[in-house]
Amino acid sequence: MSIAVVGSSNIDFAARVAKLPLPGQTVLAKEYKSGPGGKGCNQALAVARLGASPVFISKIGDDLLGNQLVSTLTNEGIDTSHLIITDAAQTGTALISIDTIGENMITVVGGANMTMTRGDLHEKQDCLRDCDYLLLQLECPVVAVDCAIKYAREGRAKIILDPAPVPDHMVIRDLLTLTNIVTPNSSECLAMTGIEPIDMATATDAANKLHEMGPETVIIKMGSKGAFYSSDGQTGLVSSFAVSAIDTVGAGDCFNAGLAVALDSGQSIADAVRFACATGALSTTRNGAADAAPNREQVLELLAEPA
Ligand code: RIB
Repeated sequence: MSIAVVGSSNIDFAARVAKLPLPGQTVLAKEYKSGPGGKGCNQALAVARLGASPVFISKIGDDLLGNQLVSTLTNEGIDTSHLIITDAAQTGTALISIDTIGENMITVVGGANMTMTRGDLHEKQDCLRDCDYLLLQLECPVVAVDCAIKYAREGRAKIILDPAPVPDHMVIRDLLTLTNIVTPNSSECLAMTGIEPIDMATATDAANKLHEMGPETVIIKMGSKGAFYSSDGQTGLVSSFAVSAIDTVGAGDCFNAGLAVALDSGQSIADAVRFACATGALSTTRNGAADAAPNREQVLELLAEPA
């Protein structure tokens, strides 16, 4: 069984602020921390910490930040041979502000991520055809995402698409016809369906709209309200885990990593969503994005705690 991740790699620069700035406002922060980020890198690193060996396809610049990402991934035991290195653009960066209640604002400078082409994916077609699950997000060009999906579907892969950041409606509609499992958060779900998922009834309505667009499985990440799933006629709302959250950046990425690892090991959809919720929850208890991903033992420990 194998998991491939195609997506962005960034270095995140995160400042802690008392209050998020309003348009036109300057706010002061005491310090910033930098570390590995990007939705693709966060997912790949979390998959590795959960005990699987992801094939990670991502594009970085031939620069210091790119070298930093290669070292991080290598230290985590991730095969870096599928990284594409370009001298035509800088490694992606994300400028993040996080306030005292953990709310954040993120500006992504896509850089090398946005230069990923069909040709880049053509070079990787064999490993895409070989995977069982393909994790994708939308911080790389849609043509590249679409191409990765097409190669993976020539094999046996199930496609797990995180529609983040949520793009233009028409673009997402085309991708959804090729997606098996779609995993929006509440605001992405609202943007895609016009329905704000706030409980089982509204989540069910939104999921039905998403099913009509293609995916047979819909999972809606509803933060503290838990995660809703709808798959093959089964629906459920998995409660969130009570943790002391300090930084939610990358929590959705850890959720998707947990989901893929659990499904890849044969868990049912309900158990896999619970495993994903625990993975995402633990990541919020630490600072950083990829760095905050928990390992398998930590997730199993949280799952074993009495509710
Ligand atoms: O999902 C969180 C990620 O979004 C951050 O790591 C940042 O790099 C942006 O891509």
